[in-house]
Amino acid sequence: MTQTPGKLQVDDKAVDLPVRAGTIGPSVVDIGKMYAQTGMFTYDPGFTSTASCESKITYIDGDEGVLLYRGYPIEQLAEHGDFLESCYLLLYGELPTKAQKAEFDYTVTRHTMVHEQMARFFAGFRRDAHPMAVMTGVVGALSAFYHDSTDISDPNQRMVASIRLISKMPTLAAMAYKYTIGQPFVYPKNELDFTSNFLRMCFAVPCEEYKVNPVLSRALDRIFILHADHEQNASTSTVRLAGSSGANPFACIAAGIACLWGPAHGGANEAALKMLAEIGTVDRIPEYVKRAKDKSDPFRLMGFGHRVYKNYDPRAKIMQKTCHEVLSEMGIKDDPLLDVAVELERIALSDEYFIEKKLYPNVDFYSGITLKALGFPVSMFTVLFAVARTVGWISQWKEMIEDPSQRIGRPRQLYTGYDKRDYGPISER
Ligand code: CMC
Repeated sequence: MTQTPGKLQVDDKAVDLPVRAGTIGPSVVDIGKMYAQTGMFTYDPGFTSTASCESKITYIDGDEGVLLYRGYPIEQLAEHGDFLESCYLLLYGELPTKAQKAEFDYTVTRHTMVHEQMARFFAGFRRDAHPMAVMTGVVGALSAFYHDSTDISDPNQRMVASIRLISKMPTLAAMAYKYTIGQPFVYPKNELDFTSNFLRMCFAVPCEEYKVNPVLSRALDRIFILHADHEQNASTSTVRLAGSSGANPFACIAAGIACLWGPAHGGANEAALKMLAEIGTVDRIPEYVKRAKDKSDPFRLMGFGHRVYKNYDPRAKIMQKTCHEVLSEMGIKDDPLLDVAVELERIALSDEYFIEKKLYPNVDFYSGITLKALGFPVSMFTVLFAVARTVGWISQWKEMIEDPSQRIGRPRQLYTGYDKRDYGPISER
């Protein structure tokens, strides 16, 4: 990283602010001293021009459609590696050797069980609760069950908490699903890989053997790789902000899950599938495209657009391929939702409005159809996203805690409320 001086003219004052260059991507103006020098804050709601931290984990070039984990292109990781390899990479910074990978797989596998008392904790929820609501609660509750790994100043405890979160998240997600459908919880099985084990915990029942389909397991594993990290997105920034106060990692990840749930973020996969179902048939697409372009109508094409990608989302390309693989493996030849999706994509990509605003399908456009074909109900889609994103959240949290310059995150504001005024007795109001 290089640092050069830069000049900024604010009103009649010229202030010297350092310009810092990253390895790749835009440089940043370091405005940390700006308030001291000018008495002014900067204003950037939605953080469209603001880098909130320095990070070495994930890089996105939104104009070129590039996504790198620790420098490695997402396409290569998804094609050649498995999810736990990407987890190792994100967490430790390098691809594992064969021995490191075997040890990591072993460690994660041996941490998949959750405290037995947690099963009773689930019973406190209504059966019809949304599984994301349940996940927010149970992941937050992990700090009450595993308080021997909540001392964030201890590097060993930080790593134990990280492994516990990556390992237990699929178990909790599967439990949340089983609870809502009234089936018994299925315990993890150590002979299975991470994703096959997750599929089994979701779909096995005690009365018959469950055979994992390796094609479907590989497809879901790839979906997990695609969602593992995405630099400073809303939920990751939430995790970092929560963690900046010194909150324990389980509480921080619970905060991330709450943020992910929103339809503009992780909830978009559920919203995209619901939208495709609502459109229903190809002939109704123009009506919905018209609505998406109408400023007086709040409707948006879910699964389209991205804050950073102004070119095709590289994850969406892999997801589209995975979607076709899953449908073919399941013998689904004519899926009306897929027909609507393919035609909607075609129409939107040739429409002036979408071209001009650089709105392309994002990762969530095809993920809903794929997850539905895998047998998951829509309410589980965002939960699956959370299972995958946990490694990104925890890697970013660890990076922040281990940064010596780390301070509590505390944004400022542009106040537009009343000036100071005097209190009057209630009888006079
Ligand atoms: N359909 C129709 N118009 C859209 C859409 C859409 N999906 N997305 C953006 N626009 C328009 C928007 O109305 C605005 O128009 P104008 O400049 O005339 O006011 C312009 O494009 C820019 O949109 P924005 O809302 O200012 O952009 P943003 O960066 O704040 O929002 C977004 C990004 C992803 C929230 C938004 O594109 C969106 O709501 N998309 C649908 C939800 C979705 O698919 N989210 C998943 C994101 S990928 C997974 C994840 O990161 O969680």
